[in-house]
Amino acid sequence: MRLTFTITRFNPETDPRPRDEPYRLDVERGQTVLEALIRIKQEQDGSLALRYSCRSAICGSCAMDINGAEKLACRTSVRKEIERHGRITVAPLRNLPVIKDLVVDMTSFWGKVRAVTPWLSASALASRTETGRTLRPMLLPRDRYQFHNVDACIMCGACVAACTSHEVSRRFLGPAALAKAERFLADPREPADAKRTRLRFLEQPDGIWDCTRCNFCVEVCPKDVQPMEAIIRLRRVAIEAGLARSGGARHITGFMALIRRSGRLNEALMPLQVIGCNLRRLLRVAPLGLRMLWHGKVPSPLAPPIPGIAQIRTIFNSFGHLKRITRADHT
Ligand code: SF4
Ligand code: SF4
Ligand code: FES
Repeated sequence: MRLTFTITRFNPETDPRPRDEPYRLDVERGQTVLEALIRIKQEQDGSLALRYSCRSAICGSCAMDINGAEKLACRTSVRKEIERHGRITVAPLRNLPVIKDLVVDMTSFWGKVRAVTPWLSASALASRTETGRTLRPMLLPRDRYQFHNVDACIMCGACVAACTSHEVSRRFLGPAALAKAERFLADPREPADAKRTRLRFLEQPDGIWDCTRCNFCVEVCPKDVQPMEAIIRLRRVAIEAGLARSGGARHITGFMALIRRSGRLNEALMPLQVIGCNLRRLLRVAPLGLRMLWHGKVPSPLAPPIPGIAQIRTIFNSFGHLKRITRADHT
């Protein structure tokens, strides 16, 4: 089967802008996009730059944009792409600086992974023997950990390229680093004070509360790491640990406090729950509030609770952590 591969070429040192170049290639049955790209490089254009190593979806090097979605080239079938899209376009990962052609600069990616301290603190890994002199490693208790699947991450960067929040702010820690952070936060060997230090770092701006929950990181991850789910778990742990001062956390706790108090969301009171008594910030949202009021979208702040409020409060009281969360700061 003779196919055209349209590859985005760009050398930032010599080219004013990226350009698409077509390559015609006879593709054999069962070939992957990576195999096709290697053949194009070997048989037609040795200047094409791409990154790969294991060819087995293990090393994470060959992530790129194939037909508009982030994929590992070594496990993407040419035939399936043609069947689905009728064409093959290949481009570098989005939202990362291009070094050349399909090779992106992963420096910021690795910097963020490093920033979340992806290792256990030394005090967690060692315990003193009876003599108090020798240090020996503390083993991971088999029945007391749940890493979900975050330790399957191969650091390919596909999720970061697809991330809507990263697209807007390059400072956002990003799905891969946050999933990595969750793996260490879930590790039972680390003491509570070390976990709290981690959470304090993660709740800062550009951390867990900057995720928009768009789910793209979950969709593109080739290893089913589900970074967004890891971020949601981090948020839950942060709130339960009493770290609920950021806007994102206050939105959740405020929302729940209103439901517990009156059985329904009251948009007139939400700004107070999230912003508090900061007059300048309240004035900033006031025009939106007035427009909503004008269109009848804001219930009275003095509206009484719904008739079944007792049952709702029973639900909250049945779950200790819900009770704790809604009492913190807001009730
Ligand atoms: S869910 Fe959050 S972390 Fe994942 S891609 Fe969307 S904004 Fe990024
Ligand atoms: S979370 Fe998935 S997509 Fe993101 S770097 Fe890890 S393996 Fe790649
Ligand atoms: S070459 Fe290693 S993941 Fe594709």
